[in-house]
Amino acid sequence: MRLIALGGSLRAASWNQRIAEIAGRGAAAAGAEVTVLRLHEFPMPLFNEDEESASGPPEGALALRTAFREHDGLILGVPEYNGGPPAALKNAIDWLSRPQEGFGRLDCFAGKVCALVSCSPGALGGIRGLPITRTILSSLGMHVIPAQHCLSGVHECFDEHGEPCNEQATAALEGVGRAVAEATVRLRG
Ligand SMILES: Cc1cc2nc3c(=O)[nH]c(=O)nc-3n(C[C@H](O)[C@H](O)[C@H](O)COP(=O)(O)O)c2cc1C
Repeated sequence: MRLIALGGSLRAASWNQRIAEIAGRGAAAAGAEVTVLRLHEFPMPLFNEDEESASGPPEGALALRTAFREHDGLILGVPEYNGGPPAALKNAIDWLSRPQEGFGRLDCFAGKVCALVSCSPGALGGIRGLPITRTILSSLGMHVIPAQHCLSGVHECFDEHGEPCNEQATAALEGVGRAVAEATVRLRG
């Protein structure tokens, strides 16, 4: 069972990346092999059908697509930008959803398992972005599990070395990771 832990942020110090990785530790403890990926390592321009027709997908999209295909599922940290997921995350999903020679239709998504987590320095913990992200990924055929966690006040949940210091939050995130690992075994064997 192989899972990706990915934050949907281009920011080098992304909190959502960090919480996806914490959830990934829970999945690893439940038997998953977890690969940490960072969105900024897969550069891609804004999706434009004309450019796609002229030049095909960018290297970053192809590399991320290959990684998705090789895994059974995804733990995704979703930042909230103005009440929804950030454009960079939606843009990556759009690139990966396109028909591509050498790849099956929607083979990055269809039948794979996904858990969503979010965080924000604010009081709502990014919760407003999750239903939208859930709808998008479900429409691509992913099994987005019911378990999720939204962490408010995230800037107070890590110490000066960047280590998590809120035991309750860490346990909740690891619990989501465990849940997606268990769901992946049930759904994909
Ligand atoms: C354009 C923009 C819009 C934002 N909108 C929201 C919002 O609607 N709700 C919220 O809780 N935080 C919002 N924030 C703050 C983000 O939650 C915060 O920057 C967070 O650290 C981003 O996630 P990251 O650390 O994973 O990059 C916004 C930030 C930006 C840059």
